[in-house]
Amino acid sequence: MKIGSVDLPSPFAVAPMAGMTDTAFRRLVKRHGGCGLVVTEMVSSEGLVRGIDRTLEYAEYTEEERPISIQIFGGDPQTMADAAQVVEGMGADIVDINMGCPVPKIAKHNAGCSLMREPAHAAAVVSAMAKAVKIPVTVKMRAGWNDEDRNATILARMVEDAGAAAIAVHGRTAAQSYSGFADWNLVAEIAEQLTIPVFGSGDCLDASQIIAKLQSGVEGVLVGRGVLRNPWILAQAMDMAAGREPREVTLEDRGRFLLEYIELLMHERVRDGLPHGRWVINKLRALGSWYTKGLENGSHLRTAINSAETLDDLRSIIVRFFSSPVLADL
Ligand SMILES: Cc1cc2nc3c(=O)[nH]c(=O)nc-3n(C[C@H](O)[C@H](O)[C@H](O)COP(=O)(O)O)c2cc1C
Repeated sequence: MKIGSVDLPSPFAVAPMAGMTDTAFRRLVKRHGGCGLVVTEMVSSEGLVRGIDRTLEYAEYTEEERPISIQIFGGDPQTMADAAQVVEGMGADIVDINMGCPVPKIAKHNAGCSLMREPAHAAAVVSAMAKAVKIPVTVKMRAGWNDEDRNATILARMVEDAGAAAIAVHGRTAAQSYSGFADWNLVAEIAEQLTIPVFGSGDCLDASQIIAKLQSGVEGVLVGRGVLRNPWILAQAMDMAAGREPREVTLEDRGRFLLEYIELLMHERVRDGLPHGRWVINKLRALGSWYTKGLENGSHLRTAINSAETLDDLRSIIVRFFSSPVLADL
């Protein structure tokens, strides 16, 4: 499938997740296969335009992640257009607009999901960006702001007319945050009405759910928390789409993933003004809270990761938990 002129090798994508989908994580998921697109964590349009170092770091990616979409947030059409040019200048394949973030810190600046409350303004942002760059401009939205204002169907048409090359819909309202269920009927309805590709997002925790959602008529599926729990989920979905059994993931595989993640993070630029080791430990704690869910004795691993104070502690906790001589040699 294609978004604008960008070819996606598979219809399954890693959803943008602030704090989680850093370049190291995206690379590892990509290496396991099945991944058609990765989206960065959301980055500030203001920060990009002003050349703030930390913002630029969040937008960094490596060649092996392509095709890569950089997601930006903001509410001012001119700043968003300028930021889209920065993204294009960084060589990204796609620039994505965040119209889904419910967090007040973002929403109060007329950015994130609050853009959905002003559809004409949201369309003006898309239009300014689409005129400013040659790369495809895409939009990620929710079902609406709240139950009284579920306007994704109307907004989807408006952003298509304004020049969006694809959209993704997470079928919850901002008011719902992550409670209840994502409304995939709404996503399917939008997919039927639009001519540009429509991706759905929400509640795919195993590969068979991804396949079921794809059959609902969307062009692709964006997987968030399911990838944090199981980074092989997209590869398993590809197996199933090809009529094969989904690949098995051993405990050793799961342990190796965490150790490789640590190694890749050690080679990243230092983040958040923290000493490198501390930052890596924090990153592992963040991933650990998702990765250990559904794992036998996962809560023990989570507690142990949270108590590790050095990288050596962290590595030996992982090796012991997934107890394998192969891991011990890494
Ligand atoms: C920790 C976390 C961070 C997220 N950050 C972003 C973000 O930066 N931009 C965005 O558009 N969506 C973000 N989302 C929403 C996801 O992209 C996705 O649409 C949502 O989690 C539903 O999909 P899922 O059930 O597969 O997780 C985030 C979700 C989580 C859990």
